[in-house]
Amino acid sequence: MKLDVPRFTERFGTISMHGVQRVYELDSGYKTGKSKSEAIRTIDNEVISEIEGKMAIVIPIKGERLKLLEGVLSGIPHDCLTIIVSNSPRQPIDRYKLEREAIEQFNRFAEKNSIIVHQRDPGVSEALREVGYADLLSNDGTVRNGKAEGMIIGMLLSKMSGKDYVGFIDADNYVPGAVNEYVKIFASGIAMSTTPYTMVRVSWIYKPKVSDNGVYFSKWGRVSEITNQYLNSVISYYTGFETEVMRTGNSGEHCLSMKLAESLTYSSGFSVEPYEIINLLEEFGGIIPTEHQDAMDKGIEVMQIETRNPHFHEEKGDAHVRQMFLEALGCIFHSKICHPELREKITSELQTRGLLDAEKEPPQLQRIRPFKDIDVALFSKILHEKSTSYLYCE
Ligand code: GDD
Repeated sequence: MKLDVPRFTERFGTISMHGVQRVYELDSGYKTGKSKSEAIRTIDNEVISEIEGKMAIVIPIKGERLKLLEGVLSGIPHDCLTIIVSNSPRQPIDRYKLEREAIEQFNRFAEKNSIIVHQRDPGVSEALREVGYADLLSNDGTVRNGKAEGMIIGMLLSKMSGKDYVGFIDADNYVPGAVNEYVKIFASGIAMSTTPYTMVRVSWIYKPKVSDNGVYFSKWGRVSEITNQYLNSVISYYTGFETEVMRTGNSGEHCLSMKLAESLTYSSGFSVEPYEIINLLEEFGGIIPTEHQDAMDKGIEVMQIETRNPHFHEEKGDAHVRQMFLEALGCIFHSKICHPELREKITSELQTRGLLDAEKEPPQLQRIRPFKDIDVALFSKILHEKSTSYLYCE
């Protein structure tokens, strides 16, 4: 892959938040060596493959069409470990069973390592409880519904499998080639980073909308533009300089080094992606004391890399978008580092959009502690003994 080096970096505490980098070639050849220009980096296929071998790709899924899942599976590079965490309904039709059959069939031909598990499997909650990580559990004792909850189970399975990097790809993507590009972007970002604490976020070149008048190649999703604006404001209130650095506040397609992944606090549901940025600022921005001195010493890098492929995915409708809005802005509102003036702006933004009643605050979502100190060997043992849905295919 041939891509820009970061042209602009916002520094906040120990975090280097790089501006969006552009891809010039999806495949820059085999052993091509250094680029002539200092502004361009060439990441050899060999380097990318080596990183892919150390990476798990987590696919959170809830009731998506199987044809889309099958396409996504085919786009993930062979050397990555694929981990599907499903929260699909099991009645009246057992959609999880269908997903499991689809992955088993895929693996028969692809001969690839994959894991699939159901998020609400009582064996999963028992394993979590035994290792003292009840943060994902609801009052009924099983894992809560929520995309973040699925992602965190995926991260624990990645750590349990000894992976150094964990990436996320939604199951509702129409274009397997785009999925493949996301993983190449993850690996290239990792190859370029200079610290073990790295996050690589995908910035979509277009999120096309299909209508009667044809395809319109819009740049932004309905929520992301506003989320980015408020995330940038959090930074601006501290630095005193307006910034546009954050362009990927809602990016579901992103990757973390395990060292960073296990050190973060997460927020439930669809607030997970914007809260990753907020938590980075909280923990490593130098405003609030942190326990993660090693990360403070080595530094955190956030890369944002623009795709060449447009992002074609399922459109879920207005109610879903409203929920994402509320959750994304709610997690910014409730952060300890959100300036009181910004809180007021968020409240009036949500009220103007009819998402919040007067005199009310956005809901405070559940926070999920870092999983750094969890005994993954014990988690694995109990999961293997008690889970009825866990399957490892190779
Ligand atoms: N395991 C699990 N558990 N997966 C879930 C759950 C859940 O409770 N809820 C949703 N998913 C899966 C979906 O099946 C899909 O694969 C992925 O998570 C994203 O959910 P969507 O419902 O498709 O969300 P979206 O496409 O509107 O939003 C996505 O893109 C946004 C940026 O545009 C998500 O990735 C958002 O988090 C992201 O901000």
